[in-house]
Amino acid sequence: MRVDEASLREDFDALAAIGATPAGGVDRPSFGDAHLAARRWFLERAKAAGLETRVDAAGNHSAVLPANGPTLLLGSHLDSVPDGGRYDGALGVVAALHVLLALQGHDLPLTLEAIDFTDEEGTLVGLLGSEALTGVLSDEVLRNPRGGRDALLAGLERAGLHEEQLRDARRDPTTLAGYVELHIEQGPGLEHAGTQIGIVTGIVGARSFTLDFRGDARHAGTTPMNARRDAGLAAAVFAAAANALVVRDFPGCVATVGDMRFHPGAFNIVPGSVRVSLEFRSLERAQLDALETVLLAEAKAAAKQHALGVDVTPVGHWEPTALDAGVRDAIETAAEGLGLTALELPSGAGHDAQALAGITPSGMIFVPSVGGISHNPSEHTEWEDCVNGANTLLHTALELCRVYAVRGT
Ligand code: GLV
Ligand code: MN
Ligand code: MN
Repeated sequence: MRVDEASLREDFDALAAIGATPAGGVDRPSFGDAHLAARRWFLERAKAAGLETRVDAAGNHSAVLPANGPTLLLGSHLDSVPDGGRYDGALGVVAALHVLLALQGHDLPLTLEAIDFTDEEGTLVGLLGSEALTGVLSDEVLRNPRGGRDALLAGLERAGLHEEQLRDARRDPTTLAGYVELHIEQGPGLEHAGTQIGIVTGIVGARSFTLDFRGDARHAGTTPMNARRDAGLAAAVFAAAANALVVRDFPGCVATVGDMRFHPGAFNIVPGSVRVSLEFRSLERAQLDALETVLLAEAKAAAKQHALGVDVTPVGHWEPTALDAGVRDAIETAAEGLGLTALELPSGAGHDAQALAGITPSGMIFVPSVGGISHNPSEHTEWEDCVNGANTLLHTALELCRVYAVRGT
């Protein structure tokens, strides 16, 4: 059995046209027009194919193929980073939909649900929909979201969602049989190894902070160089120092200053304040703790060196997560049955599977990313690999159905 390749392609292309950018990617940040349009497209496509659909209190969009058993969730996300690629998230949702279409009319022991999770990318919060569904969405993160509180409230309103109801999306774990996500690798591992399918062993943990360096805005022509409290300079010194420190002392970890907002921000004003977006990741919690200690100390040192203050606000916190051995076995069996080469590897990117793994057996299938490029409009995966991934997802679902039927639980 295989997914309908031509129809998968048609749907993938239809989705890639929503929020398409001239460079060949998509721009679908959470709850923007293009994102909401992509979600509507998904529901309409599922309905037209005769599937049931649902939208929960966190805005997660689903297509459902009901059966007399708990639900195996298959999915990913339709939001993108700003100026992102067309494969990240979308491939997993379209492939999940096509698994359901391929299995329509079959007598299955598990309900199958193709799900598009809300705000995976963290334009607003990060893993918002999957954390609501798994019951771990915290007040703290809603108070201080990565994209800012005002943007979150405006986005929820645009999507017709209510902050106080988001947690109603919580599912009882006993109603779930597992979660499987197909995703592009977003790194170079599979391409370098010449391997078709990745079986993900675990997902990095990540922490993000907003650092507000506070100095004095002054005239850029008349304020002597030795009489400045230049917030921009301190932010730049911090970014360079953070990079050098992680390269030197934290092999296997990454830290990124992904944004700096200068205020007031003009050629002729010494920057009065700068908001820095800092994020770091590791597969080990102890390393995240150590990174947090040294990077925040470095920010304070850079501020002190330039006679500034710095305010530190945590805006996101995701634990490193191991994926389920049983689901990994099912993916291996599926790939083997399809004659595809496979290897185990960890994920340096965050995924909804991280949240799902807390309440139900969860796993991920990776397919190669050309050049390892992602979060960029030139992100590309060969079509043959996309199809291989979708068929691996289909056969993983069938294998999990088989195992469930044998075990009877
Ligand atoms: C999501 O793609 C992330 O890893 O930031
Ligand atoms: Mn993704
Ligand atoms: Mn992404």
